[in-house]
Amino acid sequence: MEKLRIMSVFGTRPEAIKMCPLVQELANREGIESLCCVTAQHRQMLDSVLEVFQVKPDWDLDIMTPRQTLSTITSKCLTGMDEAIDSLKPDMILVHGDTSTTFAGALSAFYHQVKVGHVEAGLRTYDKYSPFPEEMNRKLTGQIATLHFAPTPRNRDNLAKEGITDGVFVMGNTVVDAIHMTVKPDFEFRDEQLKTLDFENNRVVLVTAHRRENYGEPMENICRAIAELSEAYPDVHFVYPVHLSPYVRETAEKFLGGNNRIHLIHPLAVDEMHNLMARCYLIMTDSGGLQEEAPSLGKPVLVLRRETERPEAIEAGTVKLAGVEQANIVKLARELFDDEDAYAKMAHAVNPYGDGKTSQRIVQAIEQYFGLREDGYVPEDEWTIFENTQPWRPLRVSPRHRTISGRT
Ligand code: UD1
Ligand code: UDP
Repeated sequence: MEKLRIMSVFGTRPEAIKMCPLVQELANREGIESLCCVTAQHRQMLDSVLEVFQVKPDWDLDIMTPRQTLSTITSKCLTGMDEAIDSLKPDMILVHGDTSTTFAGALSAFYHQVKVGHVEAGLRTYDKYSPFPEEMNRKLTGQIATLHFAPTPRNRDNLAKEGITDGVFVMGNTVVDAIHMTVKPDFEFRDEQLKTLDFENNRVVLVTAHRRENYGEPMENICRAIAELSEAYPDVHFVYPVHLSPYVRETAEKFLGGNNRIHLIHPLAVDEMHNLMARCYLIMTDSGGLQEEAPSLGKPVLVLRRETERPEAIEAGTVKLAGVEQANIVKLARELFDDEDAYAKMAHAVNPYGDGKTSQRIVQAIEQYFGLREDGYVPEDEWTIFENTQPWRPLRVSPRHRTISGRT
């Protein structure tokens, strides 16, 4: 019997991190041929993830150019996908999330009348311009997709509000599957700067910021807030793996360069990043993925954005929306540095985004859709998405034993 041909399409770092566990799961199934097409919207940051998960693409569009525009990404993806689809002849194309690769991948599948499965479906802010252009990318992808793999019940409800109710499954987020593969108690850092950090005696704060809608004043405010906090807390080391976007690099270097307690480092391989998250004290970020990973690891997160499409972690208590004004970011961070109770309230592990088995469930639902099995989809009330299946929790530095802002 001919195998079912399922082609996963992705191109940026976060899509790769969240799709590689699924690509591997598909490859484990007898009735399925797992095909992988990368657009390489990100080149180096994508390759780094592929190396960690040992995934070898069947097709590589290699589209990235420095300072690329949204139009060039989309048009190059569309043109390149024509050949990939004609050659690999997939029965279904899986796209992930909300990048330009996601939307172009889905549109191209539609032009070829290939069915689309949307992984991480149903996230919404209801603000067309924030996150930009992601909110519109995911809405348009939702219109094209046949199967919608929503991480949480709220994401399913968001789709229902847009009239999308068929083929919607609550599955959890595959990012938790990835975390289960990478975080290890005996992990040894390869990065020379991470090797020199003293996690026992210093509080290490992980910072990332890259979003397009934060370019300009918001990102400058974020940097000013980090600089102010660094000045106020001599025991705190900030580690900022800077995204390869030239704009982000220029801003980070301009506002934060030359400070020996603010480590501006190269993007980290995903296993190093996840293990750094597991060992740090606090995370300050505008990233979507980090908001989903940190709750599993019991790490407080201050989100450096005006809004979030991931309110589940706020409700669970591990994430706070800090905005993009210097004073408010500093105020919320100070609270977590100074107040042990405030810190303890946020630093508990919860899993609003999954239990590490999302890829398995997605593949079962695909098999069921194509008639390869009868018992595919397990409704979410039959599996415990909130169950605490944390991979590993290291001892964390307690504020009680540290010098805090001049007091002990
Ligand atoms: C993209 C996604 C965003 C996602 C982010 C994850 C869109 C519109 N945006 O934004 O949703 O949150 O990825 O990081 O799809 N670069 C390199 N090497 C790399 C990666 C990037 O040099 O490996 C540089 C290039 O100059 C590139 C620039 O970064 O032109 C920006 O990359 P791009 O994919 O256009 O936008 P991101 O801000 O990364
Ligand atoms: N990440 C990584 N190395 C880094 C910074 C981030 O592996 O130096 C991982 C992070 O753990 C998360 C993902 O990349 O899984 C988030 O990607 P990014 O912030 O670029 O995009 P977003 O999630 O905001 O779309």
